Amino acid sequence: MAALTLLSSRLRLCASAYRSGGAWSQGCAGYFSTSTRRHTKFYTDAVEAVKDIPNGATVLVGGFGLCGIPENLIGALLKTGVKELTAVSNNAGAPWQRGSVQVGQVFLRFTPAQGMAPWCKKEGPRSNTTKTAALPLPVNRERKSARNFNLPMCKAAETTVVEVEEIVDIGSFAPEDIHIPKIYVHRLVKGEKYEKRIERLSVRKEEDVKTRSGKLGDNVRERIIKRAALEFEDGMYANLGIGIPLLASNFISPNMTVHLQSENGILGLGPYPLQNEVDADLINAGKETVTVLPGASYFSSDESFAMIRGGHVNLTMLGAMQVSKYGDLANWMIPGKLVKGMGGAMDLVSSAKTKVVVTMEHSAKGNAHKIMEKCTLPLTGKQCVNRIITEKAVFDVDSKKGLTLIELWEGLTVDDIKKSTGCDFAVSPKLIPMQQVTT
Ligand SMILES: *[C@@H]1O[C@H](CO)[C@@H](O)[C@H](O)[C@H]1NC(C)=O
Ligand SMILES: *[C@@H]1O[C@H](CO)[C@@H](O)[C@H](O)[C@H]1NC(C)=O
Ligand SMILES: *[C@@H]1O[C@H](CO)[C@@H](O)[C@H](O)[C@H]1NC(C)=O
Repeated sequence: MAALTLLSSRLRLCASAYRSGGAWSQGCAGYFSTSTRRHTKFYTDAVEAVKDIPNGATVLVGGFGLCGIPENLIGALLKTGVKELTAVSNNAGAPWQRGSVQVGQVFLRFTPAQGMAPWCKKEGPRSNTTKTAALPLPVNRERKSARNFNLPMCKAAETTVVEVEEIVDIGSFAPEDIHIPKIYVHRLVKGEKYEKRIERLSVRKEEDVKTRSGKLGDNVRERIIKRAALEFEDGMYANLGIGIPLLASNFISPNMTVHLQSENGILGLGPYPLQNEVDADLINAGKETVTVLPGASYFSSDESFAMIRGGHVNLTMLGAMQVSKYGDLANWMIPGKLVKGMGGAMDLVSSAKTKVVVTMEHSAKGNAHKIMEKCTLPLTGKQCVNRIITEKAVFDVDSKKGLTLIELWEGLTVDDIKKSTGCDFAVSPKLIPMQQVTT
């Protein structure tokens, strides 16, 4: 049974409704409570719950990837034919959904995750009686990693429409287990059906005890991964980007504890699930299905970014398109070609207390330099990178003095590195062969 903590607040209303003989009617608009002062309105039809959202409204939509999205309400909104919405969301849906968010009808405001929580606060209506402002649609799927941006969106909104999977009896949840107090919930609808699709199903085999990520890939990748794994230290909190950084976590020595943070709201990430453990409500920042380890915790995305920006995460390891001599990082878009989205990267590199390690191939296609005097692509962060690991070399980065070559892949010379690097660098007097994890 998928018990939903967020529900508990509403449940009171519902249960008292039944006791007082309240009936559900189609498109119902009754206050299911013995007291008319209750402000949560129950609906049986999702379209009824959103049909008065006017053209041009600002709509905040909870969810991360396909995890915890208000899928019935989004479907209902499409049916109402409302136009020119400004949608605020952590993501613009999965590839197969893009058609439903029709460009031209919905304006997407691309906001770095870091800007989202403050934006919600800033734009939230204050005491204004006009009815046209934000109508956020946070989800009730408060399970596991489905919490994401729901609470800050509820706080920011003038009207909050919540869809729930299940309505349970009063008292089913302890007060301390309630994530979103009822004061923020204005409309409530029980979703008709849930697809709960999974964007990236990732599983491990029974014998494969600790796999956190898929195949190592070719030699180049494997080399970077095995060097990256040496960045882990016992007791550290680490946030790992998808791909090479996450693959490196497969090599964390069993005698070490590394707490992995996932920016969508998990501390204590475990390996991929076994086939029978897969849960659509438990995904990592790369939208892959995951598990958690004993002692793990779940939290909302604003909490997660507070943790990250506050410098509580010891290590962040991520990929890059370009890194400058002084540690500027570009990893989110190529103008006119590709917008990957910055995800949480801007936050992840924003604290001086967090060590930022970039893992990437030394050069781009056609041998274009990726390590260069000055980045030509839009920046993710300025002077934020502390170390660069490629298949050829490891550099330490100083935001004032620039690069120092500290490790070199066997068979390569400093001259080889000079040729494939777009800026000058110092060579450490303690230069050693590039290290590889042995476990
Ligand atoms: C309230 O809404 C009106 C009409 O949209 C607007 O002119 C006014 O500035 C708003 N007041 C506040 C306090 O937001
Ligand atoms: C991680 O960061 C915390 C707080 O900044 C610090 O006290 C701790 O020593 C760090 N741990 C490791 C293993 O770097
Ligand atoms: C774990 O084991 C490795 C090699 O076996 C060793 O180098 C390392 O110091 C150990 N770490 C801890 C925290 O005991």
